[in-house]
Amino acid sequence: MKTQAVAADPRAKIIVALDLPARADALALVRALSPHPGLFKIGLQLFIAAGPDIVRAVRDLGSRVFLDLKLHDIPNTVGHGVESASSLGVEMLTLHLTGGRTMIEAAVAAAPAELLLLGVTILTSSDDDTLRETGVTDTVENQVARLVKLGVAAGLRGFVASPHELQTLRRAHGSEIQIVTPGIRPVGAQPNDQRRATTPKEALAAGADYLVIGRPITGAPDPRAALEQIVTDVV
Ligand code: C5P
Repeated sequence: MKTQAVAADPRAKIIVALDLPARADALALVRALSPHPGLFKIGLQLFIAAGPDIVRAVRDLGSRVFLDLKLHDIPNTVGHGVESASSLGVEMLTLHLTGGRTMIEAAVAAAPAELLLLGVTILTSSDDDTLRETGVTDTVENQVARLVKLGVAAGLRGFVASPHELQTLRRAHGSEIQIVTPGIRPVGAQPNDQRRATTPKEALAAGADYLVIGRPITGAPDPRAALEQIVTDVV
């Protein structure tokens, strides 16, 4: 993963979530956002609708791709999934840390150096009650810290973390981990369903390496202007 690009250009820290229903919409947005942000994130909606070729198409437009598939399966299957994703040329890929140490190690073993694997802890849609439903009696906060520690021990160096977890994780792990943070809303933007959003500037100050931003850009009347405003705001 080319971390030096992150330090140099604020645009390189921004990941735009292509949460769109179809290939044509996604490619139109990628074309509209020029110069490009650091990466485009392709998640389940677009990947299932458009297939792996959407990754190639976004790359052909000169951009880097974060594939957000949140892998969670037996170690052998996850390892092969990582191989398939990296053969598409993606540069970031997510997996669920709740898959456990052996699964994480299989993913790490299958990942080439240029692929940053990102461990997902507890989704922000879950709370302490959700954990209890699945037999976890600890708090979300403690479980997040435990899962990141497990990921680091299994060889992971990248994590997805919400804005309110940033400082704790940065304090515990310093610069040995890279943190990607969703739940970002520029000053004055609609919160949508993000309950504890933070501004781009605040998230970077709290220790985020990359910001995932979707609707404030994809839903803006002028997505390019929205991206440029965010880039200006974080400088
Ligand atoms: O549109 P918005 O900026 O809320 O998009 C945020 C993106 O980050 C979406 O793709 C969403 O799935 C993802 N995400 C999130 N919260 C998490 C993990 C991922 O919003 N805890």
